[in-house]
Amino acid sequence: MAEYRKVATVSDIPDGGMKTYRLDHDQIVICHSGGRFYAIVDECSHDAAPISTGHLRDHEIVCPRHGARFDITSGTVTAPPAVAPIDTFEVKVEGEDIFVRLD
Ligand code: FES
Repeated sequence: MAEYRKVATVSDIPDGGMKTYRLDHDQIVICHSGGRFYAIVDECSHDAAPISTGHLRDHEIVCPRHGARFDITSGTVTAPPAVAPIDTFEVKVEGEDIFVRLD
């Protein structure tokens, strides 16, 4: 059964921003874009750069090392040199609290 864990509050992350959190063995990034929250693993699939040090542009995150881009809603690659998607996590918001699903 899936477990949701509270990782942040809405006021922690302004729209257009992102913040990293430790979730068991994963370092994740919570992104706030267009009034919604998304969670992705903080590791580029190209060469393992911490993607949280890149830039968030709408629903796209840009890796700072070689410029690969990923759709934060699905983890899919939107620009090379990465070819593999990054992991995403389901997010739910209840009141002020942001939860991430663990499988
Ligand atoms: S490590 Fe991210 S594009 Fe190379």
